[in-house]
Amino acid sequence: MTGTQPHTAPRPVVRPRRLRRTAPLRRLVAETRVSPADLVLPMFVKEGIAEPVPVPSMPGVLQHTRDSSRKAAREAVEAGVGGLMLFAVPERKDPVGLAATDPDGILNAAVADLVAEVGDAATVMADLCLDEFTDHGHCGVVADDGTVDNDATLERYGRMAVALAEAGTHVVGPSGMMDGQVAAVRAALDASGHTGVAVLAYAAKYASSFYGPFRDAVDSSLTGDRRTYQMDPANGAEAMREVRLDVAEGADAVMVKPAMAYLDIVRRAADAVDVPVAAYQVSGEYAMVEAAAARGWIDRGRAVAETLTAIRRAGASIILTYWAEEAARGLL
Ligand code: PBG
Repeated sequence: MTGTQPHTAPRPVVRPRRLRRTAPLRRLVAETRVSPADLVLPMFVKEGIAEPVPVPSMPGVLQHTRDSSRKAAREAVEAGVGGLMLFAVPERKDPVGLAATDPDGILNAAVADLVAEVGDAATVMADLCLDEFTDHGHCGVVADDGTVDNDATLERYGRMAVALAEAGTHVVGPSGMMDGQVAAVRAALDASGHTGVAVLAYAAKYASSFYGPFRDAVDSSLTGDRRTYQMDPANGAEAMREVRLDVAEGADAVMVKPAMAYLDIVRRAADAVDVPVAAYQVSGEYAMVEAAAARGWIDRGRAVAETLTAIRRAGASIILTYWAEEAARGLL
């Protein structure tokens, strides 16, 4: 065929491009929106520092002092962020993570600070895990043979849940991937009268390379890995089993983590259960975009918006992201 011959190709009757012609039209037909209220900002509070400390592998993220965490929380909530997920870095670590269950320990103190600061305007959540508090860096108690002792850890998680509830947290997020952790936490909360504290279960949490920068942010002591308790990235059916188990154990909401490499799991979870599904866009996902943007290799704002939209489209109703405040302010 040459350009001089008459046009004979059939003319399309259906033209999807019509709805993409102008920005207002595209906005009108957008199927997915991310609202500030869907976003949860993870925050790090460190004991024994006088000034906030930047996390080198997470540009823009700080290890907060108790004071600076209050201010940061207030600003995030003023921007419309729906929740805060607190992590703490204690001064002293030991084999069983005693600081986690100490009512005056840094995490419990920081929870009480934030509940006092923003507790009527946003949801305060606390990560419920021992890895920041143990000297070996594992998420639980290590037995003599070097394995992580599931049931001994459950007992510690139960106590930690009660301490966090007493500090005022609205939600606990058990993230250690021990078997039975949701049931153990729920039972401990209920037995201590904290029936109103919700459990956001890290249900499908993978043994992921994308947690690398987080381990800087919490001064992790881990050597080795978490593959005997976190999930193998190869598995999808197993994630559904974990999700259903957590719902059966009483989880009020379930989480998939990381987010971007596991959007199929987010979708399957959203289809499988009728509790809210959260997705955690983790430290490595943040660092990848920030690093590429800093080199001028991608458009930062568009990349961030695209990732959040994709996570929402996959079925997450709650998104944990280090960009929560910026995204809520619409500055992207
Ligand atoms: C465990 C925990 C981790 C993260 C959240 N909770 C680290 C891990 O499992 O090693 C990672 C979050 C992130 O990478 O942003 N307490």
